[in-house]
Amino acid sequence: MNQLDLANRVAVVTGGCSGIGLAIARRMAASGATLSLWDRDAVALATAAAELGKTTRVHTAMVDVSDYPQVERAAQDTAAALGKIDILVNSAGIAGATVPTWEFPVDEWIRVHNINVHGTFFTCRAVVPFLQKNGYGRIVNIASVAGKEGNPNASAYSSSKAAVLGFTKSLGKELAKSNITVNAVTPAAVRTPIFDQVPQTHIDYMLSRIPLGRFGTVEEIASAVCWLCTEDASFTTASTLDLSGGRATY
Ligand SMILES: NC(=O)c1ccc[n+]([C@@H]2O[C@H](COP(=O)([O-])OP(=O)(O)OC[C@H]3O[C@@H](n4cnc5c(N)ncnc54)[C@H](O)[C@@H]3O)[C@@H](O)[C@H]2O)c1
Repeated sequence: MNQLDLANRVAVVTGGCSGIGLAIARRMAASGATLSLWDRDAVALATAAAELGKTTRVHTAMVDVSDYPQVERAAQDTAAALGKIDILVNSAGIAGATVPTWEFPVDEWIRVHNINVHGTFFTCRAVVPFLQKNGYGRIVNIASVAGKEGNPNASAYSSSKAAVLGFTKSLGKELAKSNITVNAVTPAAVRTPIFDQVPQTHIDYMLSRIPLGRFGTVEEIASAVCWLCTEDASFTTASTLDLSGGRATY
């Protein structure tokens, strides 16, 4: 593992107590960052904080990212507890139902977009003023290769992740002169608890589409995301970094 430098940085990681978000939090802790984990799962938050607290200072916020007042409170609590915010990684997300579009439950479609899209907008809206106050910031949004390619029977998920890519490009340009970068990554399938939300046939489909012939690992995603969160990644903004084992064609 290469050494990354996140010393003296305060990082918010949504969804930071499971799967990809937890791996990002681990890599950030190993790189010297102070952490604030935002999640709606109180038990998982406590477990992650106990583990990561052995390496670094960890603040937690119980927050549903699809509820703007909760998100705004979490941002204020985090800055009050840790003094500032330098980094925001949006990893909280759900897969939603695996069904054809014409059978997709309308309330489920809205739930997927509320968490994956509105949640990403809400956290950025609440955290960006703290980054602007610093005159420095790094934002990374965890999108998905599904947002580029469109997985069949996952139209809500795919369109929500495409929205995250467009949002990232808009916000990155808005902040381009502020020393704040905003990027997205597009992982292909990575075995995490999110697999419990989808049937095996869908997992098999996603694996069959990866030229490398295997799932990504959470550590592989974390290493790229954490590099984007370093000062070194200074000329990369409003971009999409592909982490799909060769699947993405653009
Ligand atoms: N695992 C994959 O194959 C894969 C591939 C591409 C993209 N992604 C994306 O990576 C991100 C992380 O996924 P993962 O695989 O680690 O899944 P995961 O289920 O292990 O972790 C998701 C975390 O988000 C939290 N969360 C969900 N809804 C929330 C809400 N409304 N408010 C606050 N927290 C909430 C969950 O409690 C959980 O801790 C997601 O955005 C997902 O879409 C995953």
